Amino acid sequence: MDESKFVVVANRLPVDRTVKPDGTAGWRRSPGGLVTAIGPVMRSRDGAWLGWAGAAGEKLDPFTEEEMALVPVPLSAEEVELYYEGFSNTTLWPLYHDVIAPPVYKRRYWDAYVAVNRRFAEAAAGVAAQGAMVWVQDYQLQLVPAMLRQLRPDLRIGFFLHIPFPPPELFHQLPWRRQIIEGLLGADLVGFQRPGAAANFLRLARRLLGVRTQGSCAYVEDRVVRAQAFPISVDVGELARLTARPTVWRRAAEVHAGLSASKILLGVDRLDYTKGIRQRLQAFGELLEDGELKPGEAVFVQIATPSRERVEQYQLLRDEIEQLVGRINGMHASIGTPVIHYMHASYDREELAALYLAADVMVVTPLRDGMNLVAKEYVACRADLGGALVLSEFAGAADELRQAYLVNPYDIDGLKRSLLAAIRAEPEDVARRMRAMRRRVTQHDVDRWAQDFLTALEVAPAP
Ligand code: ADP
Ligand code: G6P
Repeated sequence: MDESKFVVVANRLPVDRTVKPDGTAGWRRSPGGLVTAIGPVMRSRDGAWLGWAGAAGEKLDPFTEEEMALVPVPLSAEEVELYYEGFSNTTLWPLYHDVIAPPVYKRRYWDAYVAVNRRFAEAAAGVAAQGAMVWVQDYQLQLVPAMLRQLRPDLRIGFFLHIPFPPPELFHQLPWRRQIIEGLLGADLVGFQRPGAAANFLRLARRLLGVRTQGSCAYVEDRVVRAQAFPISVDVGELARLTARPTVWRRAAEVHAGLSASKILLGVDRLDYTKGIRQRLQAFGELLEDGELKPGEAVFVQIATPSRERVEQYQLLRDEIEQLVGRINGMHASIGTPVIHYMHASYDREELAALYLAADVMVVTPLRDGMNLVAKEYVACRADLGGALVLSEFAGAADELRQAYLVNPYDIDGLKRSLLAAIRAEPEDVARRMRAMRRRVTQHDVDRWAQDFLTALEVAPAP
């Protein structure tokens, strides 16, 4: 494989290796917002994407898929358990999301995290051309910037964190807190979703490592490291093309006609405890119980993509949600007309776009979320100005989508009031809010995000 001038390094490749029931291998799109955002950026720039192909113990050669040059980085079964399920998703994920679930600190997890980060750094050093730009993604790879700089001081290194970055009061729990900050400081530019996260990082660099900072800059030996917010977004053009297809329109109408209720409420998430799925279903259930909503007036469609299924907290969540759906349907459904339609599955982009078009109220209620692209996808799909967005104030997207029905998902009564207001809103009010939100999203799409980040990285002082 040729060396590349532009290299993306992420834990995951945009496609996952799957084995079909007949035993043949194939590829399927990987879950989550990172892939949604970086995919279009890569396609418009000629570069290489390094990442794990999603199966344990598989060594694969570089290949091209969906016009992207992909370089698989292997993980053994033990590394999947200790580095990916362990340190990444049992330690860092809950710690960075307000300790909604208790983070687990295990030295074996940490050792695997260091070893796998080194492998990614070495792989990147092997494919990057002289003076290339390398863009490292997300919490799974926070040590890569410093490791890569040691191997290849000629590179320009950017890092972007897709999830929140916690305040020092929480981050201080981490036994390896200094190493993580040192790892990130290996980059020339460290990007975050929100300005508060960049401020948290700079404060930690000062407190833990005694680094001098001024404004958005940290001074590390003879280098300047910039830390700034770059709120991520969606591919507005792709979604506009999808929703313009007659097949998608027809499917949306079919979905609406197939549900025996006048209003459709929709949730689309990875099945993750940060997403506040329980809170939204509880609020909906209580509205039915109180008689404020009649079955037939509204139906809830919840799509939950399977995610991190071997991690205990995710298994507990699945049981909890499925029990709750069963209970609410048990109380309020009649034969052939459930009040909640719950699907534990991943959908393709066309079907998702049709659901966004069919939904009268999009319900996005994370307890903490770096950005939340589902909220922006919904807005990008609603060129018809229909559809109300109920959005948690704890999602990064709430900074930009101020005209949504903003909610505190911990406040179930408040959530109930907002759901009712969104269901009963006048079409003129819905259109006014949607128009304002669309202005924001169309002017700040994912291309602009990548452009802003990469331009800032380009003008960073040369290494
Ligand atoms: P996260 O990155 O935490 O998963 P985001 O809302 O930022 O959350 O991004 C989720 C991405 O995954 C979106 O692009 C969304 O369309 C996609 N997605 C979520 N649930 C599903 C699903 N059930 N089927 C297909 N895509 C999904
Ligand atoms: C979030 C994270 C990504 C991750 C995605 C899916 O978007 O920020 O880094 O890839 O969730 O999670 P998974 O564990 O399946 O990669």
